[in-house]
Amino acid sequence: MHWESTHTSEMLLFLLSFATCLCITAARPTIGEQENDFTAENESEEVRSAAIKRLLEVFGMDDPPAIHGHKQPPQYMLDLYNTVADVDGVTKDPYLLEGNTVRSFFDKLHSEQVEFKFNLSTVARTEKILTAELHLFKLRPLAAHTLNRHHFCQVSVYQLLDSIKTNNTQEKKLLSSRLIPVHSTGWEVFTVTQAVRSWMVDEGSNMGLQVVVRTLGGTQMDMKLIRFASGRHHHQSKQPMLVLFTDDGRHSATLESTDPHEAIATSILPQAPMSAPSSRIARSLDYSEEEGVSKPCQRLPLYVDFEEIGWSGWIVSPKGYNAYHCKGSCPFPLGQNMRPTNHATVQSIINALKLIKSIETPCCVPDKLFSINLLYFDDDENVVLKQYNDMVAGSCGCH
Ligand SMILES: *[C@@H]1O[C@H](CO)[C@@H](O)[C@H](O)[C@H]1NC(C)=O
Ligand SMILES: *[C@@H]1O[C@H](CO)[C@@H](O)[C@H](O)[C@H]1NC(C)=O
Ligand SMILES: *[C@@H]1O[C@H](CO)[C@@H](O)[C@H](O)[C@H]1NC(C)=O
Repeated sequence: MHWESTHTSEMLLFLLSFATCLCITAARPTIGEQENDFTAENESEEVRSAAIKRLLEVFGMDDPPAIHGHKQPPQYMLDLYNTVADVDGVTKDPYLLEGNTVRSFFDKLHSEQVEFKFNLSTVARTEKILTAELHLFKLRPLAAHTLNRHHFCQVSVYQLLDSIKTNNTQEKKLLSSRLIPVHSTGWEVFTVTQAVRSWMVDEGSNMGLQVVVRTLGGTQMDMKLIRFASGRHHHQSKQPMLVLFTDDGRHSATLESTDPHEAIATSILPQAPMSAPSSRIARSLDYSEEEGVSKPCQRLPLYVDFEEIGWSGWIVSPKGYNAYHCKGSCPFPLGQNMRPTNHATVQSIINALKLIKSIETPCCVPDKLFSINLLYFDDDENVVLKQYNDMVAGSCGCH
């Protein structure tokens, strides 16, 4: 797909909004103006792929996930996404999720027994496991068994242990146990955090999970009476699922951060794609600079379209989002609507007084940022919900 230069420059603008001071960077003289169009074309192609690679890094990935022709995402993940995010993907309530990542996994075993195994190889070693849940869909008892005298059963979830380490006897560890009405139907959720934490330490120790159903008296119950949907015999929407709530520790420094070391670290980060801007992009930035010079600092739309970037294959939601951008001048005197910092006020005064040469007016930059949510398929076709901080300019100010 061909990318129009306006989109490329918009994307660079978007990337640059992470840099500290766009107006100074954009005002720099253009590079490579004397080179011919052919080179410029190549160069902008290079900038484009470098920019998209950098954008992927913003989304915490080295490469775009492989597209396999995806299944329907689990309803649970769709519902979760709609609970935490608005239509644009912007986080409704930052305190709803404890961590910033929710991963879902389908059972790989498809066993006739009530045993499950989940491949957690896509979870990064550095991810902190907050909670892990086994989601099982309980089916109605078969008609022949409805006249059973039991009303409740005890459902227990065990972690299967490595038989070599336990002297060749199949041992298991109780993770979670609960009474469930025999005639109920619907999703049952069991906490299995301990097991997942141990699998993260030693991947080879993942022998799976086993469910045992007993009567209140403690005898094992007929599995025709208490049935859970399996990936083998039942509809995809009822498949057993492991849901993992984690935190990847990627919390970028917020604007309100008062730690100067953090501020320095983030201002160094996003400079890679700017190292060799194409003449075309630099020109278009210069042009928009001239155009917007008289307008005061304001927040303007900047739509990031995932389809245009070529990511619609693996991103379920949103289709794109409005990152907004900040544009306009910050001349003396700075009104309160410009949300100036004291520093910006002083700088604009020094600039107006022309006391010191080469002191520019303050910059129009985001001064409040919101997080967005992405629902996507990872390399292993698991559906992941991830929250990304500081992605949407909530307001602009002269800083
Ligand atoms: C431009 O790109 C083409 C193909 O990617 C390459 O073969 C060619 O050498 C490049 N030209 C320059 C001047 O870099
Ligand atoms: C888990 O998935 C990864 C990637 O798809 C694969 O390389 C690995 O062999 C799988 N592990 C098991 C135990 O199936
Ligand atoms: C393993 O089995 C051997 C022989 O049956 C026995 O002597 C040993 O105590 C067992 N070890 C453990 C840890 O159960």
